Amino acid sequence: MSSRPIYLDYQATTPVDPRVVEAMLPYLTTEFGNPSSAHAYGRTAATAVDTARAQVAALIGAREPQEIVFTSCGTESNHLALTGTAHALRAAGRGEHIVTTTIEHPATQATCDRLAAAGFRVTRVPVGADGRLEPADLERALEPGTILVSVMHANNEIGTLQPLADIAALTRERGIPLHTDAAQSPATVGVDVAALGLDLLTVVGHKMYAPKGVAALYVRRGAPVPLSQLVGGGQEHGLRAGTENVPGIVALGAAAALALAEHDADATRILSLRRRLLDGLTAAWAGLRVNGSLVHRLPGNLSLTLPHLTAAQLMAATPELAFSAQAACHTGHSAPSAALTAIGLTPGQAARTIRLGIGRFSDIGDIDRAADILTRVPATT
Ligand SMILES: Cc1ncc(COP(=O)(O)O)c(C=O)c1O
Repeated sequence: MSSRPIYLDYQATTPVDPRVVEAMLPYLTTEFGNPSSAHAYGRTAATAVDTARAQVAALIGAREPQEIVFTSCGTESNHLALTGTAHALRAAGRGEHIVTTTIEHPATQATCDRLAAAGFRVTRVPVGADGRLEPADLERALEPGTILVSVMHANNEIGTLQPLADIAALTRERGIPLHTDAAQSPATVGVDVAALGLDLLTVVGHKMYAPKGVAALYVRRGAPVPLSQLVGGGQEHGLRAGTENVPGIVALGAAAALALAEHDADATRILSLRRRLLDGLTAAWAGLRVNGSLVHRLPGNLSLTLPHLTAAQLMAATPELAFSAQAACHTGHSAPSAALTAIGLTPGQAARTIRLGIGRFSDIGDIDRAADILTRVPATT
């Protein structure tokens, strides 16, 4: 038995894949050059960044590596996409209306709050009880002055996948740029920006087995160029100044190459583990509720509302497990999370909701042990 808790929180963050660590290590030691330097150290670093750019582009089906902008985190990618595009298009006289959903990550929600405070109009389209957006509802929200639509790919709390192709068809025919926060999906669900017709897409390292502190934004060539939010040295085609995090970028590239090669196999294996876990829990817990569509969903996500215990009680009784009571990015807040509220859970139900996240390094032994530990906790805890 491992002395460390069984990790069941892959939507909060993923461990770094050892192959990714191996790829990035030289860039923390011998290959420490600044990619902007003209000498050999700089050229080695710049080449490594170029390689990573091509790897991320390949993962998401971008036509050109230059469509990838490296950033520091998913929050920054979303911010650049939303704030940068909104300001660029308002300055061009295109309008000031933004459409998003009620289920977005706080990185998007809070950025939209800021934009609203800066005079933009923001419409947040509700999702259904299954956590999915109805394209017709989004269509009704579009106006002649709509300059940006942002809809996440996979939700970080309830794992639901949005009908992006249908949404993109609506925005494309109106010439409205579409941003997607795909922080959660590339490791198990393919994303193809060209096939889907996306203009902007957020990719996050620490959700796909690269370290924290590195991410990317895809900006389609021909889409409105976001106004740079960090100005200075002109790195990242002038869209994001600041010396590149070379080891992190190399890691993101390596993780992207692994995700491209392995996401199908990972998804199949992880889905069967999720089914096994859910079967075990359903057998023991009458009245267990699964939040969000089980069909259109990340393979490794289970958001469960318990019939008998609060998430806090269950967590306190199971120190051998590491799972989440609500989205990791807002632990510390006592308010019910956005996604749970968006699908209609009451505060009482939200307090009884847990998130179990399965990933690349979960195995059948972990899953069986977790089911056993969870279902042994008495209702009187
Ligand atoms: C869907 C989604 N978007 C954005 C983010 C923010 O990413 P970061 O923590 O790297 O800023 C997260 C992180 O949990 C996420 O799950």
